[in-house]
Amino acid sequence: MTDGNESDTFDVGGDLTVHRLGFGAMRLTGEDIIGPPADERAARAVVRRAVDLGIDFVDTADSYGPGVSERLLGEELGGDDAVVASKAGLLRNRDGDWLPHGDPDYLRNQVLCSLDRLGTDTIDLYQFHRPDPDVDFEDSIHAFAEMKDAGQIRHVGLSNVTVEQLETAREIVDVATVQNRYNVGNRDDEDVLRACEAYDVGFIPWGPMYTVDEEGVAGTLEEVADAHDATRRQVALAWLLHHSDVTLPIPGTSSVDHLESNVAASRLSLTDGEMAALNAVDPQS
Ligand SMILES: NC(=O)c1ccc[n+]([C@@H]2O[C@H](COP(=O)([O-])OP(=O)(O)OC[C@H]3O[C@@H](n4cnc5c(N)ncnc54)[C@H](OP(=O)(O)O)[C@@H]3O)[C@@H](O)[C@H]2O)c1
Repeated sequence: MTDGNESDTFDVGGDLTVHRLGFGAMRLTGEDIIGPPADERAARAVVRRAVDLGIDFVDTADSYGPGVSERLLGEELGGDDAVVASKAGLLRNRDGDWLPHGDPDYLRNQVLCSLDRLGTDTIDLYQFHRPDPDVDFEDSIHAFAEMKDAGQIRHVGLSNVTVEQLETAREIVDVATVQNRYNVGNRDDEDVLRACEAYDVGFIPWGPMYTVDEEGVAGTLEEVADAHDATRRQVALAWLLHHSDVTLPIPGTSSVDHLESNVAASRLSLTDGEMAALNAVDPQS
């Protein structure tokens, strides 16, 4: 495969082997991640091309659309095409706000909806999208543990959590992954990444390309990109893959061209000097 996904692999939950460069399916929806995509055929083509390119780890959530992204994946992906990671715990309103909702009954309801839309009996990885300040965190995690015990989900993941919350959850159930915002220009959650390494938990950095145009980040990315005839985004993704063995970046796109460019980042090999320069990036300065 010359144009495909050449990232190495990670065993999600110890038993689901995936290439570390995955795909984020949040953008296969309408404006503000509400409703269907403007061009549903084009969105379906992105999913199929992702599989062709060797992407075998796809991230979605009940709240993307809501329901739309899961439904499209359920319709386009065959059973063995990819490990699918979905989430529950956020509601959308008409203003497009993302509202934490960690009530256990709600989560139990949502997994049934996700199973139906994804067209499966067991979701590979189901992530608690965001701790709800109005619900005891442990109660929400117990709901995920029950789903696992019932066979509705294979593995439990967390999202937008602290190290303390990861450790609290691990006392209740095995945690396979953590998904937090993290990229070359925003490493606020470096401590969470390091905890994931210590526990052999996968770390899924969302927004992997958010800071590529920021002052203090763009210049260094550009210099490295020029040396490889690559783009800033590709270097940002390659940095994530080189920075830790447990990262599973999930760049999101609604475009086949962008998808192909993002997958090409898996073939970019950065030198120690380039990694040192990128590690020294300090967007706050
Ligand atoms: N857990 C959470 O709370 C959380 C929050 C946000 C996202 N996520 C997950 O993380 C995934 C990735 O996050 P994200 O989509 O927000 O951020 P991202 O992957 O860093 O960036 C996506 C944005 O970059 C554009 N893009 C992608 N590839 C490009 C390329 N090669 N050239 C130019 N533009 C490109 C996309 O537009 P085009 O569509 O035009 O390519 C889109 O606007 C999501 O799909 C979702 O699964 C999780």
